[in-house]
Amino acid sequence: NGNASKAGKTRNFVDKMDESGKNCIIFYGSQTGTAEDYASRLAKEGKSRFGLETMVADLEEYDFDGLDALPSDKIAFFILATYGEGEPTDNAVEFYEFIKGDDVAFSQGGEDAPLENLNYVAFGLGNNTYEHYNSMVRDVDKLLTKYGGHRIGDAGEGDDGAGTMEEDFLAWKEPMWAALASHMGLEEREAVYEPVFGIVDREGLTPQSSEVYLGEPNKMHLESASKGPFNAHNPYIAPIAESYELFKVKDRNCIHLEVDISGSTLSYTTGDHIAIWPTNAGDEVDRFLRVTGLADKRDQVISVKALEPTAKVPFPTPTTFDAIVRYHLEIGAPVSRQFVSTLAAFAPTEEIKAEMTKLGNDKDYFHDKTSSQLLNIARLLEYVSNGETWDKIPFSAFIEGLNKLQPRYYSISSSSHVQPKKISVTAVVESSMVMGRKDPFRGVATNYLLALKQKQNGDADPSPFGLTYELHGPRNKYDGIHVPVHVRHSNFKLPSDPAKPIIMIGPGTGVAPFRGFIQERAQQAREGINVGRTVLFFGCRKSTEDFMYESEFEEYKKALGDKFELVTAFSRESSQKVYVQHRLKERSAEISDLLSQKAFFYVCGDAANMAREVNTVLTQIISEGRGVSETKAEEIVKNMRAANQYQEDVWS
Ligand code: FAD
Ligand code: 2AM
Repeated sequence: NGNASKAGKTRNFVDKMDESGKNCIIFYGSQTGTAEDYASRLAKEGKSRFGLETMVADLEEYDFDGLDALPSDKIAFFILATYGEGEPTDNAVEFYEFIKGDDVAFSQGGEDAPLENLNYVAFGLGNNTYEHYNSMVRDVDKLLTKYGGHRIGDAGEGDDGAGTMEEDFLAWKEPMWAALASHMGLEEREAVYEPVFGIVDREGLTPQSSEVYLGEPNKMHLESASKGPFNAHNPYIAPIAESYELFKVKDRNCIHLEVDISGSTLSYTTGDHIAIWPTNAGDEVDRFLRVTGLADKRDQVISVKALEPTAKVPFPTPTTFDAIVRYHLEIGAPVSRQFVSTLAAFAPTEEIKAEMTKLGNDKDYFHDKTSSQLLNIARLLEYVSNGETWDKIPFSAFIEGLNKLQPRYYSISSSSHVQPKKISVTAVVESSMVMGRKDPFRGVATNYLLALKQKQNGDADPSPFGLTYELHGPRNKYDGIHVPVHVRHSNFKLPSDPAKPIIMIGPGTGVAPFRGFIQERAQQAREGINVGRTVLFFGCRKSTEDFMYESEFEEYKKALGDKFELVTAFSRESSQKVYVQHRLKERSAEISDLLSQKAFFYVCGDAANMAREVNTVLTQIISEGRGVSETKAEEIVKNMRAANQYQEDVWS
């Protein structure tokens, strides 16, 4: 504690702030990168508007017992995402354990109000479809106050469930800055853009030079084929063993993909998640480089240097503009209104600048022109400038203003008991048309998977932008088709006793982990193990269109016999919608009976509506079945959750 870490870097943030002349630290707890992005945006804004000298800090990289050593003229921000069922993000686990511990010991050992010198600001990122909405920021705020800390401004809360995260953040930060400026006696000045990163030409190097990164995530990958341990910092480049289409219709795709992990140290158990590290689509990369005037320089080798001692370049260099845009920046995501404001200063003409400023300032106008049109950054710049090139934007602004390209998580749809060295993914391809526009919005990772599948199978109808999807193409380091992955262990697990009955609710791709569960139980049955009732509620639009794994389920039925029951809800085959929860209700008696035998109850898929509605229906079933009040039934359901008898694997 408080000493040097293994890597020899200090874990004492107060020392580090002193050494680098900082008066502000922004800690972030981030899972998918949004909290991290907000942290760096706040750092930048604090500097340009108020002259705050800020260090952005990954919670994982520092010791927290020094929170009492931060002098009162400095400030700490906590930007904390809540993950899943009220859990801290992976990088905030240690911090959370520390601060909520029974015997928290700060470095100076003060007892009554050890944090009385601590002034802090707090913002949380959450999703109101979960019960423990924003519990991280709420808990941490309470604990910091309990130990004597002083919060400046309100603790903000952003809601991903309502889709208002960005606007919640923007609305929170203005009064926060006012409160902070008043507290610290800061004077607001005309914002000036100062790049955080410098771009250095590396003449003499070419993309073929062995030290140049062309998408390799780290040095190990550059120097050799990948080596473990494989995790969120180091993916395994997994060969794709097999891939095929699960839907029977032409206009929508759902992909089944099997990756081979036998050449790695990776392992998984049924119910875990796999992270897929995507690359951006070739035509979106081209669009970005074209509109920013970088197309001619795309293969120029550059190094990126942090101009501030505490800033971190988010990818390895030397590299090329092409590789940065293709592999490291989230160029497909919705544009943030704040970023549009920042870019206004670099508009090619005064007219375009005025339009950008209007977009940046007017929430409704921005929504009409940008969000509702599903515009990403390059599409927005293209649309606003109508053919003009944005070559005055310093490249640093993109590194600062765009998120790091994030891996996407998928519920593993195979059983580790059946195929320990092959992981399967079931992913529905994201794409949506906007009226009046030719080019659809396309999800990054799922269209990448689609292209990989098409490439591997030599499909006649290649991806609309199957241009340049190969991961380590230029050097051809790996044979065959690959995808970078790592595994994230989850608590979504079958009962340890196979004889226990299970009820699974999994419409759409929510069926993914249940395919794994059933595959496992079918195999156990074949091995002569006594397997309990295994009931799956599956829903899709039409039996003839998107009924995935239909014939496979028939095979499992052969192995499991009466133990397995598949209940289907086809939502678009009749004039009224039929959903899994309606089927569940119809079978109240059977469900009650299974629950009385201590059946495990699982829900997977859409967090926004389905999971909540299933919860409600189950509460009704319990209330009616046991003749207890709704309130009592709610309590029973809560207890089931607490005892892991009710498990959810949901996403929005
Ligand atoms: P992205 O590019 O990330 O886009 C996703 C969505 O963001 C879009 O649909 C759109 O609503 C919005 N968006 C993005 N860009 C824009 C823009 N420019 N303008 C407006 N809106 C935009 N999915 C599965 O299919 N199967 C699974 O088994 C599965 N399991 C999961 C398990 C967990 C624990 C989690 C967290 C998620 C899971 N998901 C699963 C979802 C998956 O991780 C991805 O979110 C999903 O596949 C979409 O990824 P994408 O990169 O294709 O889309
Ligand atoms: P819909 O698209 O016809 O409304 C997989 O996506 C299946 O889940 C589809 O049949 C879809 O029906 C259905 N679905 C949509 N909203 C749902 C909800 N709130 N609860 C349960 N199923 C839902």
